[in-house]
Amino acid sequence: MKTISVHTQNPYDVLVERGILQKCGEYIRPLTKAGKCAIITDDNVNALYADTVTASLEENGFSVVKFVFPHGEGSKNAQVLLEIYAFLCENEITRSDCLIALGGGVVGDITGFAAATFLRGMQYVQIPTTLLAQVDSSVGGKTAIDLPQGKNLVGAFKQPIVVLCDPDALSTLPEVFLADGMGEVIKYGMIRDAQLFDKLCGLDLCTVQTEFDEIIPACIAIKRDVVENDPFDHGERMILNFGHTLAHAIETYYHYETYTHGSAVAAGMCMMTEQTGTQEQYEKLCACCEAYKLPTSVEASLEELVPLCGGDKKRAGDKLRYVVCEPVGNAVIRTVTLQEFHDLFVK
Ligand SMILES: NC(=O)c1ccc[n+]([C@@H]2O[C@H](COP(=O)([O-])OP(=O)(O)OC[C@H]3O[C@@H](n4cnc5c(N)ncnc54)[C@H](O)[C@@H]3O)[C@@H](O)[C@H]2O)c1
Repeated sequence: MKTISVHTQNPYDVLVERGILQKCGEYIRPLTKAGKCAIITDDNVNALYADTVTASLEENGFSVVKFVFPHGEGSKNAQVLLEIYAFLCENEITRSDCLIALGGGVVGDITGFAAATFLRGMQYVQIPTTLLAQVDSSVGGKTAIDLPQGKNLVGAFKQPIVVLCDPDALSTLPEVFLADGMGEVIKYGMIRDAQLFDKLCGLDLCTVQTEFDEIIPACIAIKRDVVENDPFDHGERMILNFGHTLAHAIETYYHYETYTHGSAVAAGMCMMTEQTGTQEQYEKLCACCEAYKLPTSVEASLEELVPLCGGDKKRAGDKLRYVVCEPVGNAVIRTVTLQEFHDLFVK
């Protein structure tokens, strides 16, 4: 087992171990006085893993209730959140009980937000079951729901009491979500770890899975280091957004339909590196993304995308911050005017 300790205001560990789902109760029991655990999950993950998690929690003395909602981003909203609150009330969940987020980033984000707000806050555990959730969304304490006006517009910082990552759970993940998570994994190599990036360049979507025991903890440790330095996202955390300035524009342009987030990030990283990096870096990054069935560009032109970058959350007044890797493994934040950003891309 690999342990990555996160030293935020409320410290917690991220444990990575194959088969940890079967013994999750053993790890959770010493961390809480809860009598009851409420598992929050989606229908896909429920069918695959909820019984295993329930059995282990019960073996370790918890009584267990479960709320299941339909999978997908469409459920990360206020309506489902209200249903979760109602479920917690009906089941007489108290402040000393514990929520268990079992699933991908959607489950993690909405459950974390429920834990931050129900009864003014209660404990929760993250059991992430997608690659993206294991390397990214379950660590760092950001929780949120979407509004009709935009993604992640309502949220809170709320750290879990522990994160339990089971790389074996990724064996059932559809290829498109595996590739999606690899977009973020490649990003970690680019921003902080040239060796990790080189390793990824020698693997592909199939072979990488045998290396997850090393790669997943490496990514989590990078995210840990960054969020420890900037827990509330005021500065350094921005480097996690490498590729995201253009990715957000791509997602907006295509109405969140054509590209998954990870594939938009991959295209965003390549397009950024084409403008700001060396030819060799650009070609290597493109080859790496292609090995994981990720796009290296999109059909929409830079003329069309760059104006949409102004809507990025990282904008401050008429200035825009974006991230470049100079060289691979060393992310740098640049602050420019919208006009300068436009001139960088649209020649
Ligand atoms: N909080 C953060 O810091 C943070 C960071 C990045 C992304 N996010 C959020 O994460 C969300 C995306 O997360 P995601 O990509 O995990 O999406 P997701 O939660 O929708 O999961 C993707 C799909 O995989 C299915 N699934 C999950 N685990 C599975 C498994 N082991 N086997 C088979 N199917 C499985 C789900 O049912 C779903 O259909 C977005 O809402 C995004 O805003 C949050």
